[in-house]
Amino acid sequence: MTRSPSLRPSAARAVAISDFRDLARRRLPRFLFDYIDGGSFDELTLRRNTSDLQAIALRQRVLKDVSRIDLSTDVLGQRWELPVGLGPIGLAGLNARRGEVQAARAAEMAGVPFCLSTVSACSLAEVRASVAKPFWFQLYMVRDRGFVRDMLHQAADAGCPVLLFTVDMPVPGTRHRDRRSGLSGASGLAGSLRRLAQALARPSWACDVGLRGRPHTLGNVAPLLGRRTGMEDFLAWTRDNFDPSVTWRDIDWVRENWRGPLVIKGILDPEDARLAQQAGADGVLVSNHGGRQLDGVRSTAEALPAVVDAVGDRLCVLADGGVRSGLDVVRLLALGARGVLLGRAWAFALAAAGQGGVSHMLDLMRAEMQVALALTGTARIADLGADSLDRPLERSRITPDLRSSRGPTSSPCPIPAPPS
Ligand code: GLV
Repeated sequence: MTRSPSLRPSAARAVAISDFRDLARRRLPRFLFDYIDGGSFDELTLRRNTSDLQAIALRQRVLKDVSRIDLSTDVLGQRWELPVGLGPIGLAGLNARRGEVQAARAAEMAGVPFCLSTVSACSLAEVRASVAKPFWFQLYMVRDRGFVRDMLHQAADAGCPVLLFTVDMPVPGTRHRDRRSGLSGASGLAGSLRRLAQALARPSWACDVGLRGRPHTLGNVAPLLGRRTGMEDFLAWTRDNFDPSVTWRDIDWVRENWRGPLVIKGILDPEDARLAQQAGADGVLVSNHGGRQLDGVRSTAEALPAVVDAVGDRLCVLADGGVRSGLDVVRLLALGARGVLLGRAWAFALAAAGQGGVSHMLDLMRAEMQVALALTGTARIADLGADSLDRPLERSRITPDLRSSRGPTSSPCPIPAPPS
């Protein structure tokens, strides 16, 4: 197992994602920990994402040759060494010094994709200059289309291989924890002092990120911010600047400005998955934004099979939500996802120990997936599918679409045609 030499002893002892969460809670100022950890309203969907996924039972199969396990997979024409990528997370760069740079390096070392958020702390140019290979870029449609066009051109010039267009956040969800912590709803001096007090209560973060990790701004959106940082009231900034008037017709506009593979992030409904396909997307990411948007909606584990049934033979279907172990990744793959994007798992690991923490987390995931595959009698990721599910149990739990059909098969993930 490769491990960064600089890994802090506390992080080296982490054996599960929950250990990274504990470390992150102890290391981060409250407003940052709650921002990552929290969901919207009563956090029903946040909890459902984990509990529904953990309730998926796989079939235990024996006496199959599992001496060689291959965890690699092909997604949208790219080779992933593991069937996971680091999904986009706003403000992730504040979890450790120049955090997105550290996470992108860990992803590159592990041979998995990293996706930079529009609302990252480090800019696209800063992250690109820090890694050898281009990474994915995630787009939020802000009202200023000139800015969005410029961002898309920057991403293309940087060689970003895939654009992930997030569509489930026309407005930010109602997140009580962020109001309580002062990340939102507390602008001006009072808000700054509140966040400063929380930062001073975490001296190692205050030194590593607060002092040595500047600037603290939204790197990509600097042209829209003027003299502000975007951190004064982050969620108010998103509410004022994200464009809630976007419709499927705007995908044409995105397409005019982005020639590469396009994945629509935030699909939960099979009808929306079909519309994404008609709009010309190459893939969909089944997601409820980690339970941070419409509370009470179904979990991604519950939504995924119906989306795979609807479009899985034509689009690359990815999934996120509730993943807290390599076993959870295997569960989503068995439900039909072609690849899985991690969110909180890498944000906690980054907060716990920077690049070394993310590398260690990916090592743990790799080992857990190897065991899960061996115990299900599966030698290759491509062999996971409906047959890996303990059907009688699963059929009673998953959607009617799954119960009535042949069940999901893994999305074949067609390779997108090169831009003409
Ligand atoms: C942004 O992606 C958020 O969920 O706050």
